[in-house]
Amino acid sequence: MNDDKIDSILQEKRIFNPPADFAKNANLNAEKLAELDKKYAEDPDKYWGDLAREELVWDKDFHTVLDWKPPFAKWFLGGELNVSVQCLDRHLDTGRRNKAAIIWEGEDGEQITLTYQQLHREVCRFANALELMGIKQGDRVAVYMPMVPEMAIAMLACARIGALHNVIFGGYSAQAIKDRVEGSECKLIITADGGWRRGKIVPLKDTVDEALANGGCPSVEKVIVVRRTAHEITWDKSRDIWWDELIAPQSGKHTPKSFDAEHPLFILYTSGTTGSPKGVIHASAGYALWTKLTSRWVFDLKEDDVYWCTADIGWITGHSYILYGPLQEGATTLMFEGAPNYPEPDRFWDIIERHGVNIFYTAPTAIRAFMKWGEEWPAKHDLSSLRLLGSVGEPINPEAWMWYREHIGHNQCPIVDTWWQTETGGHMISPIPGATPTVPGSATRALPGIEADVVDRDGNSVGDDEGGLLIVRRPWPAMLRTVYGNDARFKAGYFGRFGDKYLAGDGARRDANGNIWIMGRIDDIINVSGHRLGTMEVESALVSHPDVTEAAVVARPDDLKGQAIVAFVTLENDKPGEDLENILKQHVVHEIGAIARPAEIRFTPALPKTRSGKIMRRLLADIAAGRTPGDTTTLEDSKVLDSLKEQMNAKA
Ligand code: PRX
Repeated sequence: MNDDKIDSILQEKRIFNPPADFAKNANLNAEKLAELDKKYAEDPDKYWGDLAREELVWDKDFHTVLDWKPPFAKWFLGGELNVSVQCLDRHLDTGRRNKAAIIWEGEDGEQITLTYQQLHREVCRFANALELMGIKQGDRVAVYMPMVPEMAIAMLACARIGALHNVIFGGYSAQAIKDRVEGSECKLIITADGGWRRGKIVPLKDTVDEALANGGCPSVEKVIVVRRTAHEITWDKSRDIWWDELIAPQSGKHTPKSFDAEHPLFILYTSGTTGSPKGVIHASAGYALWTKLTSRWVFDLKEDDVYWCTADIGWITGHSYILYGPLQEGATTLMFEGAPNYPEPDRFWDIIERHGVNIFYTAPTAIRAFMKWGEEWPAKHDLSSLRLLGSVGEPINPEAWMWYREHIGHNQCPIVDTWWQTETGGHMISPIPGATPTVPGSATRALPGIEADVVDRDGNSVGDDEGGLLIVRRPWPAMLRTVYGNDARFKAGYFGRFGDKYLAGDGARRDANGNIWIMGRIDDIINVSGHRLGTMEVESALVSHPDVTEAAVVARPDDLKGQAIVAFVTLENDKPGEDLENILKQHVVHEIGAIARPAEIRFTPALPKTRSGKIMRRLLADIAAGRTPGDTTTLEDSKVLDSLKEQMNAKA
């Protein structure tokens, strides 16, 4: 944790009340919010049970709201439903049949709109195809795709037949695919020939081929390929199937089965503190309930809105708030394939103007990039359709918050800074736009039903403005159920410290007004452009290069990305060969993907270690950030640090 950051936040005195007309028409106003809080306080089980019955379409009612045997929670026991029905079928006879479910825009400008009826039909056809291929309830299906409508169709079809999708972000490398596919023994990979990114082809199918080469991913039987870029790819007739050929003969009707409320809906890998990425498991009913409710409460989704979340579906933000939440609410969700600055830095503002976007949800790293590109780009466009702005992924600095408010929201739109995680499934701490006064840089308050708190090392709540650990005192329906195939890791990682209380891994403080300020990770996780990377993963990638003996990876603050990766590396033979820095950076890209590329690599004869042999990353982080290294009393050999400092001075 960085003390400077806390000081600057403490000076934040600006408060913005919800605009009166927004509050008047909001899905949740202060009064309704208070009612929900009260209802929860009186009887949490009744609160959740009532919401689950009101919101979801059950094939069979549940008999018990919660079975809590820490760290394992089961919600809505005995209940049965189908999550794709919540997203699609339920809207077909409610007047939304011909409403746009997904408005898609490709990077090349191509556009497709799928109404609820059309999306339902495509999902049914693909579900039929999957079943015909022998994909069954509980099977795992990897999805490694560009942001095209087929990605949404594939995920919803998996949900429909009870197969678990395991989406792997399209920027990940072959090695990353291999780890995730082998880790969850996927039977099938759904991909595309390629995707478009800044006018260039991202060769997704080639990367899948590389992951499967030499006996990699032995559980994979088939690869389904969407035609997108139409460039030449290699083809294995016995394994590869074109998407269009597969669905051509399929019927648009499919009778959904009912699944247990706790049936796992999907796996999504995320970086953990130690070792390999963790396959977070979410369960059907609880996840569906909370993503639906938070979409309505936090985004104030209305029948006529065009809603746009700019995340990639490869991350939890896209799962919950491009797909499952908005579709359950019967909203129109916009999906965009490309980058914010292609062909020009006003691509997003152009999209907002052309599609009349009302609600816009993006990440602080993007906002900082927009600031750098200049306010003239949004100024070129009519953004008056916007009525609500959102932020997610990392702490938003007050300066970026104010810029967002002024230049995108024209001082009219409330901003919801939503704190949550892959593990939490949906929003946890966020303003309710029609009810909560907002303060630049604070995610404000826990949502009704979420008992977030800031505690000290012993688990006691800390006082106003004291820093501590962010925890959640009671389970909530959308919490992760476990880590795929590793209950012990689930328990140790999230419930190891405080027993029945969920440890988020973030530092936080609460101010005298009750607003929560997230202060960043307390563990070895680096947040680069809102994406979580475990230092261990990057270190393992570096050490897998033959020239490297040992590596320690830390974060240093970065104006644009939030944090940048700095790697300290010791070598087999002390002298780095020519261009080794670039070779190693490229090696990490190859092993993990471009998001993990170190900004800087420093060669050093030794790493600072404790007497028990642990690398002292804290000191390295100080050096990387140009700070004076803190407490060095546990250091085994102070000469190591001296030489690193010397090296740093020489660089400066
Ligand atoms: O450190 C917090 C940061 O992102 C982490 C979760 O990352 P991930 O699982 O990849 O999910 C990102 C999208 C939900 C958190 O532990 N984080 C996320 N949102 C915020 C945030 N930090 C501060 N403010 C936020 N609004």
